[in-house]
Amino acid sequence: MTKVLIPYYSSYGHIFTMVQAASEGAKSVDGVEVKIARVEEFDVVKKVMSEQDAYVQAQKKQENVPIATHEDLKWADGVVWGIPTRYGSMPAQMKQYLDSAGGLWMNGELEGKVAGIITSTGSIHGGQETTAITSLVPLLHFGFIYVGLPYGENPEQLTADGIGGSPYAASTVAGPDGSVQPDERDLIMAKRLGERVARIAKALHG
Ligand SMILES: Cc1cc2nc3c(=O)[nH]c(=O)nc-3n(C[C@H](O)[C@H](O)[C@H](O)COP(=O)(O)O)c2cc1C
Repeated sequence: MTKVLIPYYSSYGHIFTMVQAASEGAKSVDGVEVKIARVEEFDVVKKVMSEQDAYVQAQKKQENVPIATHEDLKWADGVVWGIPTRYGSMPAQMKQYLDSAGGLWMNGELEGKVAGIITSTGSIHGGQETTAITSLVPLLHFGFIYVGLPYGENPEQLTADGIGGSPYAASTVAGPDGSVQPDERDLIMAKRLGERVARIAKALHG
């Protein structure tokens, strides 16, 4: 079996919805097994955000999702990262997951694995591309082989509509107050990214 891991962080559920579409796409490839795992929340953030009903509700829906471990990363042949924007780049929770994986880096244990990114912002120009590109930097240090979302397979990107999707990553726009849910086209592109990561991981790792 080819193994695809989907580690994600999602405060309000948009990334959670997107990674489920990616999971569906990855599972559509024969002989592929998928694990979705959430990156651990910080206590300090939990405390502050627990005053927000939208955060509490979204966390409740994710309570049965297992916490992502470094063993999961070793297990995977391909990884679809679910990374929402925080000030134009990845959340500290996700960076902590990577920063604490120095042992894997040192032994080159993630080298040659396939990676793709799903991201999300509050506003259209809030940093979808910057989050994807800056997240790519540590992923390349680990030796991941990066998979984007080409225009040919994703003609939905050729639009002036306020939706996600770019050559760099699948994405969605949550709206300044988080009230906008992923567009059907965002979900289709997330699904295709999952499928693409799985297909390439299978070709490389069997
Ligand atoms: C601390 C913080 C910083 C954020 N920074 C940005 C930002 O730079 N640009 C932006 O468009 N949205 C920003 N947002 C909005 C989030 O990106 C948005 O809530 C998220 O993508 C929604 O995904 P989720 O529902 O999976 O949490 C920020 C949100 C928080 C809590």
